[in-house]
Amino acid sequence: MVLNVLGISAFYHDSAAALIRDGEIIAAAQEERFSRQKGDPRFPSTAIDYCLREGGLASGDLDYVVFYEKPLVKFERLLETYLAYVPKGFQAFRKALPVWASSKLHLAREIKAGLGSEFRGQLLFSDHHESHAASAFFPSPFEEAAILTVDAVGEWATSSIGHGKGNRLQLLQELRFPHSLGMLYSAFTYYTGFQVNSGEYKLMGLAPYGNPRFVDEIFNRIVKIMEDGSLWLDMSYFNYCQGLTMTSEKFHDLFGGPPRLPESFITQKEMDLAASVQKVCEEVVLRAARYTSRLTGATNLVMAGGVALNCVANGRLLREGPFDQIWIQPAAGDAGGALGSALLVWHHVLNKPRKVNPQDSQKGSFLGPAFSNDDIGLFLDAVGAEYAYYSDESELLSRVARLLSQDKVIGWFQGRMEFGPRALGSRSILGDARSARMQQTMNLKIKFRESFRPFAPCVLKEFVHEYFDMRPDENSPYMLFVAPLREQHRRQLTSAEVTQMQDPDLRVRVSIPRSALPAVTHVDFSARIQTIDPDRHGRLYRLMRQFYEITGCPVIVNTSLTYVVNRSCARSKTLFTALWPPR
Ligand SMILES: [Fe+2]
Repeated sequence: MVLNVLGISAFYHDSAAALIRDGEIIAAAQEERFSRQKGDPRFPSTAIDYCLREGGLASGDLDYVVFYEKPLVKFERLLETYLAYVPKGFQAFRKALPVWASSKLHLAREIKAGLGSEFRGQLLFSDHHESHAASAFFPSPFEEAAILTVDAVGEWATSSIGHGKGNRLQLLQELRFPHSLGMLYSAFTYYTGFQVNSGEYKLMGLAPYGNPRFVDEIFNRIVKIMEDGSLWLDMSYFNYCQGLTMTSEKFHDLFGGPPRLPESFITQKEMDLAASVQKVCEEVVLRAARYTSRLTGATNLVMAGGVALNCVANGRLLREGPFDQIWIQPAAGDAGGALGSALLVWHHVLNKPRKVNPQDSQKGSFLGPAFSNDDIGLFLDAVGAEYAYYSDESELLSRVARLLSQDKVIGWFQGRMEFGPRALGSRSILGDARSARMQQTMNLKIKFRESFRPFAPCVLKEFVHEYFDMRPDENSPYMLFVAPLREQHRRQLTSAEVTQMQDPDLRVRVSIPRSALPAVTHVDFSARIQTIDPDRHGRLYRLMRQFYEITGCPVIVNTSLTYVVNRSCARSKTLFTALWPPR
């Protein structure tokens, strides 16, 4: 008998749904991709509808629905935290209580209402960090692995260490709230004027501009880290237990003033703070990984939780050991909990065996909806776009590769949407990484923003070791590892450029070419790499091979296709060419 399990994450941030059938991942998507509300926390009705549609199911066909965490345990944490800080925490508690009273404490009722009366299956709840751990281990290419999950907080746990073998995983140790690496990083995200829960990657991208001069201050005053990677935070520097902000006055006094106002000018102080907390984060992750290795004896590591999206720390872990191989869940944040909880039901509750795929079972993370040529044609007609249809893929790829080599920017929309925060080649904007103007052109004319961060490179897998400090057998198909560009591709700055590198405007600094691949090289020569291979990436791989034939360059720019295609941009000769039927 075929069994269908639906996993759900919701009501905090990154709501998502994931469907597995007989242990195979059928579909997974975040609600934000349908609602266009970034980090949408609402019940993921549209994502669930999509998963059911993809599986050819109605909610009455679901055998199990599982929620990614245990709301009552989470409420206990909220209550105990409030009591520990009483009367200071009253404001925060008063804000949170109505939401809990009206919906979060009655999640079973809410979920059943969302699924409709046809749903007759079982409703289960898994543990937050166990869901993260399952999302990392079960789809991984390893029969056995150490597990490390690190985020802001689940029910009580803020990070956990575990071990997975075959179809079982076990969490062995955990660090508990309020001591949390994710919270520490988010506190600095808040203080430097970025959005908590979504701006952390901007802080990571800001770090290479800074001097980590606050590291000692952070270690001496705010955080103590132990040899095993666990940490203790001095809570007098924070306000997230009792207040509505992340940091306290004492934190502000320590770093010389109030938090930077969002969108205001970024000063050297913010850059130095970013560099400092990034160093601290890397140190904690490296220590935790070494301890995990000693504790489990495993030679491979899997990771999940929001901190596992810190690809600079991941890159160091890959280069500095102690693990032979590392696999990270691409939807490492709470969206991935939907997938993990569904896999937990399959392997733990139902005790079904696990078939290990040597590549991995995540299917390139292309788990979202695809559109037919007819759908796309209708849309393009409706917005009055100029377009051409290619029935021959080689003709299409040859045209696109040539356009890329001529410094044109391509909107690359094909196949199934990615699950996870990164554009991996299905909903991407592509460009020539060799172009010195590409970073600015893409930001200002296409993404309608200005940014101090370079774009990420896609590199043909067979060339990754020639361009970046990675081994030929290492890959990064989910853009989760940062690696330095090799020396031979770097460029010596002129004395005028060295002076320009002191410019307070970061856009000036990022526009100075650092290498033969200026659009994708950060000021410290690092790059957030996506390796492209023929099995996972099919058409994108074939496109890049064509581009390589023309240019001799196996690297292109890949950034997310996030802007809304509307009538005006369709008329501005933006080119839509990705009209080949799905693989
Ligand atoms: Fe989490």
